[in-house]
Amino acid sequence: MRIYFAPMEGITDALFRQAYQACFGGVDKYFMPFVSPSHSLSYTLREEFDLLPAQNRGLFAVPQILARDAGCFLGAARSFAEKGYTEVNLNLGCPSGTVTGKGKGSAMLKDVYHLRRFLDEVYCEAPLKVSVKTRIGFETPEEWEQLLSVFKDYPIHELIIHPRTRSQLYRGEPHRAAFGQALETLRCPVIYNGDLFTAESVREVTGMFPQAAGVMLGRGLLSNPALLRQLQGGAALSMEDLTHFHDYLFRAYEKTWHPLTAVGRMHVFLKYFAHSLNVPFKYVREALRANKMDAYQDAVGEMFAQAKLKEEPHYSQPE
Ligand SMILES: Cc1cc2nc3c(=O)[nH]c(=O)nc-3n(C[C@H](O)[C@H](O)[C@H](O)COP(=O)(O)O)c2cc1C
Repeated sequence: MRIYFAPMEGITDALFRQAYQACFGGVDKYFMPFVSPSHSLSYTLREEFDLLPAQNRGLFAVPQILARDAGCFLGAARSFAEKGYTEVNLNLGCPSGTVTGKGKGSAMLKDVYHLRRFLDEVYCEAPLKVSVKTRIGFETPEEWEQLLSVFKDYPIHELIIHPRTRSQLYRGEPHRAAFGQALETLRCPVIYNGDLFTAESVREVTGMFPQAAGVMLGRGLLSNPALLRQLQGGAALSMEDLTHFHDYLFRAYEKTWHPLTAVGRMHVFLKYFAHSLNVPFKYVREALRANKMDAYQDAVGEMFAQAKLKEEPHYSQPE
């Protein structure tokens, strides 16, 4: 069973991936947050940094592309192949309005005719393996059958399925039966993604779908970074694990980014860690309010000093 780290824009960048690998590891592939290339293939400085092979040394990183135009996808894929990447991932799942408004991400699932033309060109000409990350439809799960009949015609390296529609965003139950349908229909390796927040939920899904090639986890690993170790029979998350990981991340961002940006990013991690902690909210709030290095360090130190790990640390879906 392969284990993949989900791409999360604004979170799982190169510094994060290296920190996770150094502190925990156990991940077969890290999918990188999407880039949305234009024809000129210009990237932001941060995207350039993230894509540098040197920043991804020692781990298997897969760049992800958000595109509606096959020419843009192929231009970016060629530039990744030149950097030494062997696989690229196509994003057909992003539900954000700014993305779907441009016909990209999950909006690609709406127009099956365009999707076929896009995939024809991509699979004819791509210079490296192309995997796909998808939802099961734009509006309703009834779209899935037709989408499966499209996917089955292409040499998809791996299909990662988040079994929700775009309209669900991250709400409601994942449609596990739709995942089972994919396993019956497709010959390519199929990976399950969605709401795997505890070792028990991972075991349940892998027990239910033994033919699945693997699982991809995102929020679950952010809130309980020791989840994979626990799954493999090792020790559960400890307070030392969490503070060590926090400090490792903090040093990496502090060294590389502007202090304001570094602290801003730490706030994002803290919100995920807080799911696993019993701590009066005022301490978390103080740390989230602090936007200077020293103030943040003091506030987060106090927060960890007051905190205890929950009995079963895990991400909890907001109501
Ligand atoms: C803040 C955030 C950013 C995300 N960014 C991306 C992204 O760049 N590319 C992508 O394919 N999915 C992205 N996703 C979706 C995740 O990869 C994953 O499919 C989703 O979180 C469900 O998995 P989980 O329940 O294990 O977290 C993002 C999700 C969140 C919450």
